[in-house]
Amino acid sequence: MSKLWGGRFTKETNKLVEEFTASISFDQKLAKEDIAGSLAHVQMLGECGIIPAEDAEKIKAGLLEIKTMVDNNEVEFLVEDEDIHMNIEKLLIEKIGPVGGKLHTGRSRNDQVATDMHLYLRTKTTELIKLLEDVQGSLLVQAKENINTLIPGYTHLQRAQPVSFAHHLMAYFWMFERDKERLIDSLKRVNWLPLGSGALAGTTFPINRERVAEILGFETIYPNSMDAVSDRDFILEFLSIGSIIMTHISRLSEELVIWSSQEFQFVELDDSFCTGSSIMPQKKNPDVPELLRGKTGRTYGNLIGLLTVLKGLPLAYNKDLQEDKEGMFDTVETLEGSLMLLAPMIETMTVNKEIMRKAINNDFSNATDIADYLVRKGLPFRDAHEVIGKIVLYAIQQQKFLLDLSFEEYQEFSSLFEEDIYEVLAPEHVVAVRNSFGGTSPEQVLKQIQLGEGKLGK
Ligand code: ARG
Repeated sequence: MSKLWGGRFTKETNKLVEEFTASISFDQKLAKEDIAGSLAHVQMLGECGIIPAEDAEKIKAGLLEIKTMVDNNEVEFLVEDEDIHMNIEKLLIEKIGPVGGKLHTGRSRNDQVATDMHLYLRTKTTELIKLLEDVQGSLLVQAKENINTLIPGYTHLQRAQPVSFAHHLMAYFWMFERDKERLIDSLKRVNWLPLGSGALAGTTFPINRERVAEILGFETIYPNSMDAVSDRDFILEFLSIGSIIMTHISRLSEELVIWSSQEFQFVELDDSFCTGSSIMPQKKNPDVPELLRGKTGRTYGNLIGLLTVLKGLPLAYNKDLQEDKEGMFDTVETLEGSLMLLAPMIETMTVNKEIMRKAINNDFSNATDIADYLVRKGLPFRDAHEVIGKIVLYAIQQQKFLLDLSFEEYQEFSSLFEEDIYEVLAPEHVVAVRNSFGGTSPEQVLKQIQLGEGKLGK
């Protein structure tokens, strides 16, 4: 059997053209969605009397057989048949005879492929939401164990104020929570049904789009057939949410790389998540977080790629749109792989509480608290800031930290200092008094963790 569209042609397609224009090497990933869309379409065709009911039944049976073959990897997809839609249609006709040719009544590959993409992204988006929740769950596990573990909190990667390690981890929990919200929201638009739009202008057959929407579980039907076949906004949206997720993963990965360095040693990644060097036997490299950070680039590329494909396209379908697929698949697979690794890597990492504690004892991250102390004794904050600046400079010159200075030394700088200054400077105290909502005190962090558990339905 030759091309499904061969009637108008007098020559064979050039082999290079055939290969260049074919999408079967990658759109075979849409086989299940394509069959699901066809099953719904043919059901509707039968119900509406557009094709005889018994033909619809034959087609359905044939499609189900093909579905089993696809599930068992028994289908050999052919480049000559260009894409997944024509590969399956041809297979159907081979299986059940010319009646299979009735499947394509009242539809076009243009509304068909758009529907496949919507179905595919709906499944993947739902799966990704679960994977994000796994990562959030692993952050909660570590957070719960580290409410009272203190680390320096940084701004400009300079030690700023001590924070609970749980607080630091929970910051990522909320980033992923917003990502989840974005994905959930995007499902509204993924759930618009293109099928029934024909090639671009609708169809002459008395189809029932509501019925197809109902069978396939779509909430809305595209009200404009030209928009339906050329819209790829829902993919752009997915690629941009995917890029944001990877940005969050990349930032967390960067922290893990820093924290597991010899210089920091705040955490140790489990051996099963690290690799060695072929030449330096002492090395244990954080390859996984590095690659997670690195893979972020391709997801940005996929987003920019599709934005660029779309920007100059006139309505309606253009073959350029075939370029929407590989980037989308790649971002889906990158996200799946990344989230699946991230969750267990976080859960199995060892937190070096003592080393974190030592870092806290050897820094000036409690300096703000002496300033606040003097403010409570009546000094204007600006003046207090000046006094503490001098104390810090003095301490650095003496090679001491704030808790090492004697009471007499404090008195030299201000007569407002009293013996209770040492309690105020203790890191536990510094953290505990940051008790405003969303702050780092153990009380607030616990509240936050409970709020987080609520979000995961725990
Ligand atoms: N393989 C095509 C794609 O992915 C399917 C739609 C083709 N439609 C057409 N009129 N050539 O976009």
